[in-house]
Amino acid sequence: MQTSLDGRRALVCGASQGIGRACAEALAAQGASVTLLARRPEALQEVLAALPGQDHHCLVADLSDWAAAGEVVQAHIADIGPVHILVHNSGGPKAGPAHEAPPEAFLEGLTPHILGGQRLVQAVLPGMRSADYGRIINIVSTSVVTPIKGLGVSNVVRGAINNWMRTLASELGPDGITVNNILPGYVGTDRLSSLMEARASREGSTPADVAATWQASIPVGRFAEPSEIGSVCAFLASPAAAYINGVNLPVDGGRLASM
Ligand SMILES: NC(=O)c1ccc[n+]([C@@H]2O[C@H](COP(=O)([O-])OP(=O)(O)OC[C@H]3O[C@@H](n4cnc5c(N)ncnc54)[C@H](OP(=O)(O)O)[C@@H]3O)[C@@H](O)[C@H]2O)c1
Repeated sequence: MQTSLDGRRALVCGASQGIGRACAEALAAQGASVTLLARRPEALQEVLAALPGQDHHCLVADLSDWAAAGEVVQAHIADIGPVHILVHNSGGPKAGPAHEAPPEAFLEGLTPHILGGQRLVQAVLPGMRSADYGRIINIVSTSVVTPIKGLGVSNVVRGAINNWMRTLASELGPDGITVNNILPGYVGTDRLSSLMEARASREGSTPADVAATWQASIPVGRFAEPSEIGSVCAFLASPAAAYINGVNLPVDGGRLASM
């Protein structure tokens, strides 16, 4: 099975912690040269220093300022050459019911995920096309399939990413470029901890109570390790996954299947 990423460059967004970091580590372990992107330079440097392999870089950029982030990425590509694998990932929108969200919260949520993603896709496309090899992998959420209670803005943003992904998959498939979404279930990261704290304070319970309730809803009975999302990302990025295009892939311990 061809899973080596030797000679490929990956750009991993939201790579200073959590799922993005795990994706960067998995891609580097398979031989890719990785460019990490996020807003905090010190956190990026720490991830960079721990990556296996060589020829890794980092870029400080904010996907909410999508035009500036696009310039940073474009300049990086001009400097070091094409990106063959784009992992499009950033922070999740603020929690809360949709009907209570101010209208501008939807714009705030859509900006890094849709405008930022679109700008990055346009920056990497020429290099992917000339290499006849491209993998665009969005880190999204199971809310693409079933909206999650209390994540109103996020549910709407994830729905938009779904049709953006499917549209790009059909447009870019002929160029040897696949476009897919990974839908993580509950993954043990800072984002999950803050969601559990928010839920506990709304319900007057504790984060441990919330964790127990959520874990009981997962057939495998536990949260995912970030590396379990990273492994799936590295597989989708590989030559072995060339025929997987336009899919939403849940990595959720069976939770969606049991709902
Ligand atoms: N953890 C879960 O259980 C879970 C489940 C389903 C879906 N997801 C989704 O998967 C994605 C990643 O989750 P996670 O748990 O790894 O989140 P996380 O721990 O909050 O990490 C988010 C990453 O994105 C970066 N980031 C945030 N805003 C950014 C921006 N505007 N521009 C550039 N980088 C930005 C952060 O770094 P800087 O602060 O350095 O920029 C950080 O590296 C999120 O969309 C999340 O909602 C997570």
